[in-house]
Amino acid sequence: MDKIRYFGDRISQLIGALDFQKEPPELYDPIAYTMNQGGKRLRPLLTLLACDLFGGNIEKALYPALSIEVFHNFTLVHDDIMDKAPLRRGKETVFKKWNPDIAILAGDTMFALAYTYALKTDAEIVPEILTVFSKAAIEVCEGQQYDMNFEQLQSVSIEDYINMIRLKTAVLLGASLEIGAICARANTEDVRNLYNFGIELGIAFQLKDDLLDVYGDTETFGKFKGGDIAANKKTYLFLKALEKAGPEQRDQLQYWFSQPSDRDVELKINSVKSIFDSIGVQAITEEIMTGYFERSLGFLSRVEAKTEQKKDLVEFATRLFNRTH
Ligand code: IPE
Ligand code: IPE
Ligand code: MG
Ligand code: MG
Ligand code: MG
Repeated sequence: MDKIRYFGDRISQLIGALDFQKEPPELYDPIAYTMNQGGKRLRPLLTLLACDLFGGNIEKALYPALSIEVFHNFTLVHDDIMDKAPLRRGKETVFKKWNPDIAILAGDTMFALAYTYALKTDAEIVPEILTVFSKAAIEVCEGQQYDMNFEQLQSVSIEDYINMIRLKTAVLLGASLEIGAICARANTEDVRNLYNFGIELGIAFQLKDDLLDVYGDTETFGKFKGGDIAANKKTYLFLKALEKAGPEQRDQLQYWFSQPSDRDVELKINSVKSIFDSIGVQAITEEIMTGYFERSLGFLSRVEAKTEQKKDLVEFATRLFNRTH
């Protein structure tokens, strides 16, 4: 049977069996709402694929994988408050459907739940798993803070932007793979290469997310299109546009990106997007994204395992790279 599909089904079953019919419902309903929405569930899949790559028993990696998915969902619930995002996975965000206080508390509970699931594997590997998990969790917060800091800055260097997305997004993909490899007791060198595969893939993944935010289809992508422009996010698209803009376009970009997120949103998004289009930032972003994707495969090729065994990871990474949602 197709391993990617089988592992995906196991994760879905595990999530589907979680019981959130608890008191008080004001706390648990938003958690159930978030966890049952689906999403791609790519991080737990990476954990299982990594465990399997080294011949590990995926049963031992299931709860650690679940733990990462719950943590990821927690970050989304809080991220939507920070980004003032109305829509996620085609549905109203938690803080919009309920309110920010409820979203904060649901998120806090999910963070603690993530730890309880991470404990459910062989005791001897738990300390190592928690070390990797906690390091990634802290780095995600560092990345999120940079992301917000950058909203207030006129410009940001490309290097600082890449570091920000490495922290807010890529480290969790790296950690998902690392934890799977730990469950299989892989050797240090392989774990390092697999982690770096995740980092480079994660950077490509966030570049794609930034692209889809402007050029994706709202129906498929499930988020409010142009949200990053509205929120003055210093994405690679914006930074490249600013770098390549003539004086007039530069003034316009700077004007729009000094406006609050709720001012003339539609006009702002359309005006900025037309500058992006005339400069051709989509193609430029796709090119650097491809570079990160190829580098990720380079790290994977250094992992000591037969090419045949790596094919599922290569296939899955390629799907992420080509995704439309
Ligand atoms: C969204 O992650 C946040 C980013 C890091 C870009 P995903 O694109 O994995 O979200 P879901 O879980 O599939 O909805
Ligand atoms: C999200 O980045 C990263 C984390 C949630 C940690 P984004 O803010 O771009 O993610 P989306 O687009 O809202 O999913
Ligand atoms: Mg964000
Ligand atoms: Mg966001
Ligand atoms: Mg985004």
